[in-house]
Amino acid sequence: MKKIIYTTLSGAILSLSLLLNSCVSNADSPGLEYAPDMYRTPGIETYVDYGEVRGRENKQWKGRLSALTPPRNTVPYYGTDSSEVMLMLPYFRKPNVAFRQTHGLYGWDYSTADEYTLAVNDKNPITLDKDNAETYISKGKELFTAMCQHCHGEKGDGQGPMVVSKAYSGVPNYVGLAATEGQMFYSIYYGKGMMGSHGSILNKKEIWSIIHYIRRIQDANYGKFDANGAAVSTLVSDTTNAN
Ligand code: HEC
Repeated sequence: MKKIIYTTLSGAILSLSLLLNSCVSNADSPGLEYAPDMYRTPGIETYVDYGEVRGRENKQWKGRLSALTPPRNTVPYYGTDSSEVMLMLPYFRKPNVAFRQTHGLYGWDYSTADEYTLAVNDKNPITLDKDNAETYISKGKELFTAMCQHCHGEKGDGQGPMVVSKAYSGVPNYVGLAATEGQMFYSIYYGKGMMGSHGSILNKKEIWSIIHYIRRIQDANYGKFDANGAAVSTLVSDTTNAN
């Protein structure tokens, strides 16, 4: 009889203590978890610092990107507007073989042809009209000011602070530049001479917008339209093939 009472009593104490233990004052807490891995996956999530997972430090992995870089030639999703999607596709021209040494573009598919010369007829796929011109040109200006102006100069005359300080030289004046817009794109994307490649930091839409702005620097009437909607400048880009 005594044995039964003791067993019942210790059973009751045990259940009570378990019950009380699983109570916490924080209403958002699930309480004591007996098998936390069942509730939360121990798998490492994307966008976390591998160096510290669940409070456990792992110095070897500190500061390491947990999200992998998307595979090459994958296309970011930019909605369903097909004209925009075309602009996001990878640039169809390959870098010239020489770029492997000169611009450090390792791991790319190279072309044995002179792609810069082939780019001569590539056209800006963003067509300006009286409604959109200022939007694209001002976006181009904004990007140019942030990423190019220190070399190319505010006026695009090749006299940016880097050049004026004599830290850098050989930057051309945009006015009188022989390159066509297709070649400008190629040069901005892969680099040219002393200019590095910008293909990894600007998408195609951004580069083409900057090229519209460079055209505005070359001709103050570029991207301006008369009352009938006709382009004032003769430097109008027509849209044919480039994407
Ligand atoms: C570090 C300095 C530097 C930066 C930054 C720079 N450029 Fe250049 N850029 C140069 C130099 C130098 C050249 C001349 C290259 C040559 O012809 O050898 C050049 C040439 C060019 C050309 C003429 C290309 C051709 O085919 O003749 C264009 C267009 C151009 N840059 C646009 C840009 C744009 C747009 C940016 C910003 C996204 C930019 N550059 C950033 C230094 C720079």
